[in-house]
Amino acid sequence: MRIVVLNGVNLDALDRRDPAIYGGMTLSELETQIYQWANQIGCTVRCRQTNHEGEFVDWCHDALDWADGVVVNPGAWGHYSWAIHDAAELFTVSVVEVHLSNIDEREEWRRFSVLEGLVDARIVGKGPEGYREALEFLVKGPDK
Ligand code: DQA
Repeated sequence: MRIVVLNGVNLDALDRRDPAIYGGMTLSELETQIYQWANQIGCTVRCRQTNHEGEFVDWCHDALDWADGVVVNPGAWGHYSWAIHDAAELFTVSVVEVHLSNIDEREEWRRFSVLEGLVDARIVGKGPEGYREALEFLVKGPDK
């Protein structure tokens, strides 16, 4: 099974953001961890991160021909980007939305997600562990 992990805006600066919220790890450490979990779980993962919305949309399109499952953390785009909503709407495979922090318990504006209704699961507030759960969810599939 091939899974693409798409991280969006500002996630490259994870280690510079409030450690009380984001844990202090670098994006590279997070991605290394995700690749290790993928190895253990038995799936192939491709991790990508960009600060450019159009590139993120391009990568959603790329995933249409490659991925059997999608993990997406759009960062702040998730709260307002209808372009990312429309790109995510194209996925025919299962999609899991992940947020490191608990967006439901932060500022009001973070509680809304453009991906609502488009994703098969949403995992928030579990830190890096959320990505492991997302991989497991996708590998397990809906009915098993
Ligand atoms: C985030 C939550 C978003 O509200 C925020 O803009 C981010 C990171 C998270 O992983 O917790 O950049 O997606």
